Amino acid sequence: MHIDPFGIEMWMNEYEDNCQFNLAETCIKPMTINELLQLSNKNINLGEEIAEMKMTYGEIKGSVRLRSNISSLFEKQNEDNILITHGAVGANSLVYHSLISCGDIVVSIMPNYQQHYSIPASLGAEIKVVKLLPNKNFLPDIDHIKDALRSGAKLISLTNPNNPTGSLIQEDLLKRIVELAIAHDSYILCDEVYRGTNQSGSAYTTSICDLYEKGISTGSMSKTYSLAGLRLGWIASSRDILEQIFRHRDYNTISVGMINDHCACLALENREKISERNMEILKKNIHILDEWVNQEPFLSYIKPNGGTTALVKYDYNISSRDFCTEILNHTGVLFAPGSTMNMEGWVRIGYANDTRILREGLALVSRYLSNIKPLNT
Ligand SMILES: Cc1ncc(COP(=O)(O)O)c(C=O)c1O
Repeated sequence: MHIDPFGIEMWMNEYEDNCQFNLAETCIKPMTINELLQLSNKNINLGEEIAEMKMTYGEIKGSVRLRSNISSLFEKQNEDNILITHGAVGANSLVYHSLISCGDIVVSIMPNYQQHYSIPASLGAEIKVVKLLPNKNFLPDIDHIKDALRSGAKLISLTNPNNPTGSLIQEDLLKRIVELAIAHDSYILCDEVYRGTNQSGSAYTTSICDLYEKGISTGSMSKTYSLAGLRLGWIASSRDILEQIFRHRDYNTISVGMINDHCACLALENREKISERNMEILKKNIHILDEWVNQEPFLSYIKPNGGTTALVKYDYNISSRDFCTEILNHTGVLFAPGSTMNMEGWVRIGYANDTRILREGLALVSRYLSNIKPLNT
């Protein structure tokens, strides 16, 4: 079966471990297990707890404790509406493989995490693209969704907050998209892996699974909770939909590791403290990024409202891949080229990593850019 190469993941595979300042990273500054234990502020002997575990497959759908903790992130869900997966990447993949067949139509916003168009395309679905445009603050235009839905769609795919733009679809627009989905009896898959990172108001936007019976929310411990190493994600949806997905999940997951399940419980039971830590990082870092972009004469952007990344437009006569490799070679700073996400002429900057890395990395890029101004003329 053909599938297009996963542009951003290939870029990360190649360079992530060969840079000094990783500003392509999308996780909020990853935590150590020690930091998690300190935040949880309890007298936990994790080593002993793990040593006592009998290494079975554990509870197949994920422990009730974990599913119940995850369900508390939503308004209307309980543990029966949650299925544990191998990261959000496993969650998204399972949704498409369970619900999409050859000949179906999938409406996807663009840019989007590539899974959301390349997996359904590989299954033989027709992809109708709804472009997110900078002059619309990278928000989907409801009339464009209406147009894309003219011949119906099995599924509408959103990522909210969005990677790479950091745009945030608020509840009123989500509700209008739900109305369109109801009219066409379409599923909505909303990748909510960055949910809990909003820059203002509540950090958590309304979830699609709380707005719509055929809404499917995917998420994970990776970004908002700084624990990508747990490789633990979830699907939240109605029981009917989860049953269909579960049939496929038996073939490729069985269960997720018991130790990971245990650590994720610990984190979610202390999520207010993690959120406090992470919002502090996000607010400090977005301020640094914002000042930096505004002082660079040949860069511009739409300031993100959520998520951990920003798309930055550059006015230099160079491809985004070459631009990123030049920057990497001269400064040790890793950005991600827009070409890996259908946004040539832009670069993605992940600003949620360690503040020192962001500050020092951007200063080095400034120094480099001041020497290549002629490229713009
Ligand atoms: C929108 C989006 N969905 C899913 C993933 C995969 O997340 P996980 O680490 O939970 O598998 C990523 C990772 O970058 C992402 O940006």
